[in-house]
Amino acid sequence: MSLNVVVGAQWGDEGKGRIVDLLAAEADVVARFSGGDNAGHTVTVQDKVYKLHLVPSGIVHPKVVCILGNGMVVNPLTLLDEMAELASDGISVSQERLLISHAAHLITPAHRMLDQAQEEVRGKKAIGTTGRGIGPAYVDKTARRGLRAQDLLDEEVFREKMVAHVTMVNLQLEKIYQAEPMNVHAVVDEYIQKALTLAPHVQDTGYLLRGYLTEGKNVLVEGAQGALLDLDHGSYPFVTSSSTTAAGIFSGLGIGVRPVDRIIGVTKVFQTRVGAGPFPTEIYDDTAGRLRGTGEQPWDEFGTTTGRPRRVGWLDMVLLKYAIEVNGINELVLTKLDVLSGLPDLRVCVAYRVDGQEYADLPFGATSQQMEVCEPVFEDLSGWEEDLQPVKRWEDLPIEAKAYIAKIEAVSGVPVHLVSTGPERDQYVIPSSIR
Ligand code: IMP
Repeated sequence: MSLNVVVGAQWGDEGKGRIVDLLAAEADVVARFSGGDNAGHTVTVQDKVYKLHLVPSGIVHPKVVCILGNGMVVNPLTLLDEMAELASDGISVSQERLLISHAAHLITPAHRMLDQAQEEVRGKKAIGTTGRGIGPAYVDKTARRGLRAQDLLDEEVFREKMVAHVTMVNLQLEKIYQAEPMNVHAVVDEYIQKALTLAPHVQDTGYLLRGYLTEGKNVLVEGAQGALLDLDHGSYPFVTSSSTTAAGIFSGLGIGVRPVDRIIGVTKVFQTRVGAGPFPTEIYDDTAGRLRGTGEQPWDEFGTTTGRPRRVGWLDMVLLKYAIEVNGINELVLTKLDVLSGLPDLRVCVAYRVDGQEYADLPFGATSQQMEVCEPVFEDLSGWEEDLQPVKRWEDLPIEAKAYIAKIEAVSGVPVHLVSTGPERDQYVIPSSIR
């Protein structure tokens, strides 16, 4: 039996999907516990690139059961699109393989309208949300008026709740946001007709997961977004509306507090962020263009969900250490080391300067106001020229690349277990200390 967790240690987009895909080869179950289709997980298998938003990345492995946990907010329409695409690639998304918690909340077209209207009103202070209705769906959850997957089991009740929900959102759209209302019956009819087809997938997944763990199955939990987007611990208010950190797995899956074997933190070897908010190590020069890529490749730094170019910067160890602490990360996976090839000098932020004083840890937590006044203190390291994509053995990494990894381990105090050197499934190296 094992319970392992993969979480993002930055602002999302660390390459978690790819790592989950690798680890899922040994798993019986892969479960998501938070977020919704704001996430974008890319998995590359030979010449096929899977872009997943709701379905756990484990789906690519035929024997794995995939669970959308109760901590998630699920948009039935995008889920159905994703399922159809997977099915057209010959991947089974049957009710035996893809289960939705009865207590997961549903995102509706009204939530999306509200998300977009709210962002418009925020103007210059916009969060830069993905526009997927995530915030409004979690608001309805906490206000105890949300729609849940279990509502799909009774069409009459579901319709009644949907009509009340869209009517209420229309009021907000008109009276608060001066936006056009929706046609209640058209929206409800279309949504219900499609959403109800998911009913056979709805289960008490907490009960099932507890059973799997008792039976000794290997359960892998796939985090979405990253520590710095966590509703409580992230760069508030520029965060998402869910618990993205490892502690959220217990409530987001309903498995009770129990020991976790591996808490794997995934971080890129540089920093990226999509959306607004503080970013102390952000850069704007030619190097930024190099790190971001042109957008031609699926792994370039453009949002999987929105297509927006990501902001980029140097690796921020102050934030990584914070992410390690708030998650309890006990091993690190580094992604995109190959992208640094050809850069003559590499910078790593090891401290912040505030009012002339240096801090190796976040002086005031990760909130937005505090981070905005932090000036990064960099250490410079030598780069390397060699293309890392063909490298399969630790011994064959350039000495400068090993020194860069050693720096991350030394400052973070957490061992690196795997380093990705390209987008393909087999493009990674395992440090000799781990083998
Ligand atoms: P929301 O989750 O759509 O409400 O967006 C809130 C913030 O989180 C915005 O800055 C988004 O860009 C960011 N965000 C949400 N999901 C992801 C993700 O999967 N990767 C990166 N950023 C994300």
